[in-house]
Amino acid sequence: MLPFFQVYDSSFERRQIELFVPLVVRDEIVGAIFLGEKATGDVYTNYDKEIICAMGRHVGVAIVQRNLMAAIERHAEENRKLFDEMRSTYHDTVKAFAAAIDCKDKYTEGHSVRVGKFSEIIAAELGWGNEETEGAAVAGYLHDVGKLTVERKIINAPYRINAKESAELNRHPGVGYEILLPIHHPYTDVPLAAKYHHERLDGRGYQDGLYDREIPFIAKIVNLADSFDAMTTDRPYKARRPAKEVVEDLQRNAGKQFAPELVTSFLGGMLKELKGGNNEKRFRRLLGRDYMEAEGIVDRLKSTLNEMGPTTPMTYVAAAAIDDKPIH
Ligand SMILES: [Fe+2]
Ligand SMILES: [Fe+2]
Repeated sequence: MLPFFQVYDSSFERRQIELFVPLVVRDEIVGAIFLGEKATGDVYTNYDKEIICAMGRHVGVAIVQRNLMAAIERHAEENRKLFDEMRSTYHDTVKAFAAAIDCKDKYTEGHSVRVGKFSEIIAAELGWGNEETEGAAVAGYLHDVGKLTVERKIINAPYRINAKESAELNRHPGVGYEILLPIHHPYTDVPLAAKYHHERLDGRGYQDGLYDREIPFIAKIVNLADSFDAMTTDRPYKARRPAKEVVEDLQRNAGKQFAPELVTSFLGGMLKELKGGNNEKRFRRLLGRDYMEAEGIVDRLKSTLNEMGPTTPMTYVAAAAIDDKPIH
């Protein structure tokens, strides 16, 4: 208690202290009660002192509990900060990697970064939570990491590559998987996205020629994002295709290459943005305003979504009943 009195000595000078009760919990002083004169002016009886000591024990325990809670909260806060730092380090590293992959391919500048962003849009449109959506973005950013081991002249060939070169290029999903597998990702699907991002629902894709249900969901997302970017950017042997045509292509290939529910989510997000339902400019920022606001695109999106939109069993049964069996 000595340091306490040394600090507060002056404040006690003018006050009369009749009773002093140290609050001791597990052999440690956690506080003290100072009482002045009783309001009646009487001296404190032994009974009074017993009551005050009993109260003091409760107050002491409460102080210890409060200190413990404060310490726990402090630790939780420190852990949260540490976690956030690690998370942003991870994401920065992933983005730096994506930029490194893109550097190798001079014709498709920014491809990995865009595929990451398109994958993120698809996941968000599916209603995924923030963390999973971030995971989808990471899978997109890293999907072509295997290209780092493919010869630069094959990646940058200004002509359609031959069979041998194409076999070399087609190794990149498997290599990407090997590269990503030993890394401890917060999202375990990231290596799978790299491995299977060139698979198609109809089994005509490559790596393992998987069919619809065998393909990991994340790989289907990245496949759609990847193909969409390929169609909407200029390639050395192929110019960027108009947005309307790209929408038609996605519709035509839904069920063959792309998962239909992903196509509708993606196009639904695009339509929402073009109709101005929200102030987001995700597509316009990535593809340019003129490109996205070309004439007829909104109508094309609407009719595509209408044609692809699911019919509920209830609507179907009711319509069939009216068509086939008129009610008498
Ligand atoms: Fe790829
Ligand atoms: Fe790609």
